[in-house]
Amino acid sequence: MIYLSYKRIIRPIIFYWSREDPEKAHELVIKILYYIGKYRLIAYLIERLFLVKDKRLEVELWGLKFRNPVGSAAGFDKDGSARYGIKILGFGFASLGSFTQYQQDGSERPRTQRIPKDEAIVNCMGFNNPGADQTAERLSKKRKIDIPIGISLGKSLRTPLENAVEEYLYSIRKLYLYGDFFIVNVSSPNTENLRELQKKEYLKNILVRLQEEIIILSKEHETNKKPLLLKISPDLSTEQLHDILDICLELGISGIVAVNTTTSREGLNAPASEKGGLSGKPLWPKAIEIVKQIDNYTKGAVPIIAVGGISTPEQAKEMLSIKSVKLIKIFTAVVYEGPWIIKKINKGLLK
Ligand SMILES: Cc1cc2nc3c(=O)[nH]c(=O)nc-3n(C[C@H](O)[C@H](O)[C@H](O)COP(=O)(O)O)c2cc1C
Repeated sequence: MIYLSYKRIIRPIIFYWSREDPEKAHELVIKILYYIGKYRLIAYLIERLFLVKDKRLEVELWGLKFRNPVGSAAGFDKDGSARYGIKILGFGFASLGSFTQYQQDGSERPRTQRIPKDEAIVNCMGFNNPGADQTAERLSKKRKIDIPIGISLGKSLRTPLENAVEEYLYSIRKLYLYGDFFIVNVSSPNTENLRELQKKEYLKNILVRLQEEIIILSKEHETNKKPLLLKISPDLSTEQLHDILDICLELGISGIVAVNTTTSREGLNAPASEKGGLSGKPLWPKAIEIVKQIDNYTKGAVPIIAVGGISTPEQAKEMLSIKSVKLIKIFTAVVYEGPWIIKKINKGLLK
């Protein structure tokens, strides 16, 4: 009932109100989540509506406990302000960021396009975020949260590729205490040349240096060695993918997040901007294909967090039935299906 009212009433109103700049709708949602998250009693009551509590949904991975396998994808909460609200929606974990060393405003607005006919989004946000210093200050002031937090790290536009590693190191040092696991994002199509960092010559160095830094930070702060994951693009050739997987296997990377948005416009029935990354339903076939390739190549040795076009319990089940896939993340489905989608997927998984 409530589910239908989102699609028939709430969604059309929000979409109409934000038709010139869809990002307005997202900003509103983040604000609401921020305020709901502030008031513990309201938060508690709303969470009871959304959360599916069941032991069978729990996942243990990297020594962390996930109450269910459905997380929010990076980009959903770009400054970390809505993480309590994300928890209230019933997510099993949250991804924050991507954060860069320097504060960035990102690309000029409007920089997101909704494509309702295809239940897709094209975005060219360009890593708008408060920067690592300000984010560390914000996250340090907040109370503890009892779902795992993944922190996604990106590269500022101004930083040349050769210096990218220093930027990732800077950000992880600043944010280490506030994340349970870290995701290296070298796969966003919206920062010029960023995806070049997926090439062997850059990637190995970045991952090795970050792994070394995590060892240092874990000793300094007396924590466990926090997991380091890599998020990849869906637009890689098989050869490029294999090169990346060889590096992940060699270095013992904790996991792979597959996939980011695509520059391809395949599967779209409605016109879309040429600039930016496509997410949502049309991304599903590519996402599942790549996830299967990773699973096959690594023989299940590297845990995967699968993301890309997941919008039904059946798709969630299909992804999670792949041996390496331990967790999934969603973003665009929340826009088109409403926040009840998290509950719907979790309930579907229990069936
Ligand atoms: C508006 C928007 C902003 C995004 N920002 C980021 C980001 O900052 N970092 C990142 O790794 N992925 C980002 N993504 C990609 C998502 O995390 C996810 O990989 C992608 O949207 C595919 O999942 P979906 O089809 O469920 O949306 C963004 C996606 C959207 C739609």
